[in-house]
Amino acid sequence: MRKLLQVLLLLYWLDKGQSSHSCSLQGWPMETFSQSGDILIGGVFVVHSGINFQQPTFHKRPKPVSCTGFHIRYYRDVLGLMFAVNEINNSPELLPNITLGFSALDSCMSEPQAVGAVLSLLSGLGNSFPGYNCHTSSAMVGIVGDEYSFLSIPIAQITGVLHFPQISHGATLSTLSNKFLFPSFFRTVSSIDPIMAFVDLFGSFGWTWVGMLMADDDVGHYGGQIIQNRIKRNGGCIAFFEKIHLSYSDKQMKRVVDVIKRSSVNVIVLHSPDVHIKALLDALFNEGAAGKIFIASDYFGLSSGDFSKKALKVLNGTIGLIPRTGTMPEFEEFLLNLHPTGNPSYPFIRPFWEKAFSCQWTNEGSERPNTPHIKANVTCTGEEDLGGRVAQLFETNDLSYTYHAYLAVYAYAHALHSLLGCNTGSNGFYNYGTCGNISDAQHWKVIRYLKKTKFHSKSGQMMKFNAQGDLPASSDVLNMQILNDSFNLVKVGMIDIEATLGEKISVNFSAILWNNHFLQMPISVCSNSCRPGYRKVPSQGRPICCYDCIPCSEGEMTNYTDADECFRCPSDQWSNEDRDRCIPKAVEFLSYDEPLGITLVLTAVILSIFTLSILIIFIQYRETPIIKATNRELSYILLVSLILCFLCCLVFIGQPSTFSCLLRQTFFSVVFSISISSVLAKTIMVILAFKATRINSSLRKWLGPTIPRNVVGICSVLQISICSFWLYSSPPFPILNNKSQKIIFECNEGQKVFFYMTLGFMGFLAMISFLVAFLARNLPGSFNEAKLITFSMLVFCCVWISFIPSYLSTSGKYTVAVQIFAILASSAGLLSCIFLPKCYIILLRPERNNRDFISGSKERRNWIK
Ligand SMILES: *[C@@H]1O[C@H](CO)[C@@H](O)[C@H](O)[C@H]1NC(C)=O
Ligand SMILES: *[C@@H]1O[C@H](CO)[C@@H](O)[C@H](O)[C@H]1NC(C)=O
Ligand SMILES: *[C@@H]1O[C@H](CO)[C@@H](O)[C@H](O)[C@H]1NC(C)=O
Ligand SMILES: *[C@@H]1O[C@H](CO)[C@@H](O)[C@H](O)[C@H]1NC(C)=O
Repeated sequence: MRKLLQVLLLLYWLDKGQSSHSCSLQGWPMETFSQSGDILIGGVFVVHSGINFQQPTFHKRPKPVSCTGFHIRYYRDVLGLMFAVNEINNSPELLPNITLGFSALDSCMSEPQAVGAVLSLLSGLGNSFPGYNCHTSSAMVGIVGDEYSFLSIPIAQITGVLHFPQISHGATLSTLSNKFLFPSFFRTVSSIDPIMAFVDLFGSFGWTWVGMLMADDDVGHYGGQIIQNRIKRNGGCIAFFEKIHLSYSDKQMKRVVDVIKRSSVNVIVLHSPDVHIKALLDALFNEGAAGKIFIASDYFGLSSGDFSKKALKVLNGTIGLIPRTGTMPEFEEFLLNLHPTGNPSYPFIRPFWEKAFSCQWTNEGSERPNTPHIKANVTCTGEEDLGGRVAQLFETNDLSYTYHAYLAVYAYAHALHSLLGCNTGSNGFYNYGTCGNISDAQHWKVIRYLKKTKFHSKSGQMMKFNAQGDLPASSDVLNMQILNDSFNLVKVGMIDIEATLGEKISVNFSAILWNNHFLQMPISVCSNSCRPGYRKVPSQGRPICCYDCIPCSEGEMTNYTDADECFRCPSDQWSNEDRDRCIPKAVEFLSYDEPLGITLVLTAVILSIFTLSILIIFIQYRETPIIKATNRELSYILLVSLILCFLCCLVFIGQPSTFSCLLRQTFFSVVFSISISSVLAKTIMVILAFKATRINSSLRKWLGPTIPRNVVGICSVLQISICSFWLYSSPPFPILNNKSQKIIFECNEGQKVFFYMTLGFMGFLAMISFLVAFLARNLPGSFNEAKLITFSMLVFCCVWISFIPSYLSTSGKYTVAVQIFAILASSAGLLSCIFLPKCYIILLRPERNNRDFISGSKERRNWIK
């Protein structure tokens, strides 16, 4: 629809009454540059970068548009075409006896102009008559152009309808490979892939947060979308996606500048021809928003253009992709011959001259008096000397699109050569043995030959269009370096579309000069990457590249940066402080060489030695009243069992073994039962003694050693039975418990119920002792053991009652330490409460160690022996 309107617009400009041809319509002739020949090749090129656009009012007949912004770099492409045509005409092998000619028009970066140009070429009258072919002397067989995709598309739509071959020298848009839409379109470049291959590397460069600047035209929109999707698919994020165009107002421009200025990105992907962004670059410089690195797709066509100094500062360090160029030997000599009065006459030579020498032609003789190319006071004379300035003016160090225009002409020449030559059968065409003549040079036949033609470029590379009409070619990665105001494009790498994935792209980063803001490769990220030991947590409502880092929890780790998740360490390992490694868990047990272990061992040993000395004292003073009064036999048993109690702590310390595990709880409970049952027996004896004296009765016969022996014996046997059954049914065993942060080397008690049964039995004995002693506490006598026993049992019970909760609430070696502490404390309590007062009397108050004092009354003397 849009194209139709453009065509109608052009028809509007038609002027009916100028001269009469075989065709009846006429319009403004477009400025055409022709060189005659037997066969013509058309060219639609961007030479000027814009048009003086005025909205037609249609009150008067609309005027032809004039173009502005002559670009030598673009102009070079036309010269490339001309150079190729001349080279072929001089070649004895290619198309002998046939001269090629050409017709070239300027599309001025404008779609209507491009459509007008192609229609004018096809009709052959300099005017656009759609569908008419009015070429009289020689046939036009194909078109070269345009450089840009957005200009090539409307051209390809028309050439497609008319089955006219078109070879673009720069359009990379992938849609153009669609032969259903564009059946007669070919190109000497490949489709959009190069920037894609480059975009795929962004992640490895650390560029996950990038901005995008697109030309506000079909190709900008379409290509921009593809690039954006690719970046997102690779896990990158787009910080902004802005459109820009030559025709934007200052207000629109300001908005884009603000977006770029506010953004934190360091890398901006540029998918726009240079003309659209010139004003923007100046504005960026003025706003102090320079210092971003631009990555230019091949749509940008990296060149010095006519950028201002400010724009060049902003663009400094830009990395661009352009299709790989080959060599064009003798092209520079050809350029040296350029002259306004040359023969043959060169296209666009007068505006070129003005641009190159900053001069102005006087009006007479100028093709387009109304085109102001340059404002200068100097008048061009034609005597100016081009020598020495060619390389700099034409940037011949990088021929890119010019080379591709040159290749396009060669493609036509080779196709024509096959078409017009005699078929030897070697080149795959049928009609073996026949020869063509010049009337066979028809455009639709040329398409067939173009599809099959194969030829070698000057540098020996095989050229052949693929099924989509593309010429798969590599791209060069260029770096724009502005040093001392001189513009340099330095090749820093290449992209080989045909290569396997890994070798597709190679870039020498040490050869890249970034800009004044980045001495090294810049990073462009939304959030800094998370160190090992941290994981990413997406920020609410922001792109996925923006996240917070939070540390892994205990027992989890990550050993790489930017982890999404933390991993749990294996069960025998635990994460280290930094959470970036799993380390084997420490094996923990209460050992002999740590302070806690040493302290407990020393305490146990000292207390047992202390108990031993009390035992020795008791044996030494065994005939003194105080000892005789307290049932010597029971005292000895109690003291010995207390020594064992203290010593049994040692079994709890040290690395658990099968043996020590078996011994620990059983030894402890048996020894403890013995000591508590002796205390119980003692209490019973105290009561019996009193009862027996009072009643003077048969109870006396129980005062012998039978009762204490039986009590102690029965209790011990009971406890030993429980322990035996325990050892028999579920013996304790050593185990490595790795449920927590450490591996705890401990004894598994087997059935816990046995452990609590032994404890419960001891508790039961202790309660009975306590109760009996409590009842007997008020019996007369200055030395009443019952009081001491009550008190000692109180201490004992307190210790063991508080033991239960602390035993259950501690873990690892501290559980063991708690039990040892309870053993030591309760045994020491018994020892001190029952025996220390006696020792005090024996050693320090020997005067009290007599019968009277001890019995306190005459009645008690009787049972003291
Ligand atoms: C070219 O022309 C010359 C002379 O007119 C003739 O001898 C020669 O055979 C021609 N070559 C071809 C390939 O037609
Ligand atoms: C990369 O560039 C540096 C600097 O220009 C150069 O010294 C080096 O040889 C290049 N490396 C390769 C592999 O081309
Ligand atoms: C461009 O960048 C290079 C490298 O950082 C620097 O040396 C040079 O001065 C810059 N040019 C301009 C015009 O800022
Ligand atoms: C990270 O840990 C895993 C599993 O422990 C290991 O296979 C891998 O090699 C480690 N990677 C690095 C970079 O250390």
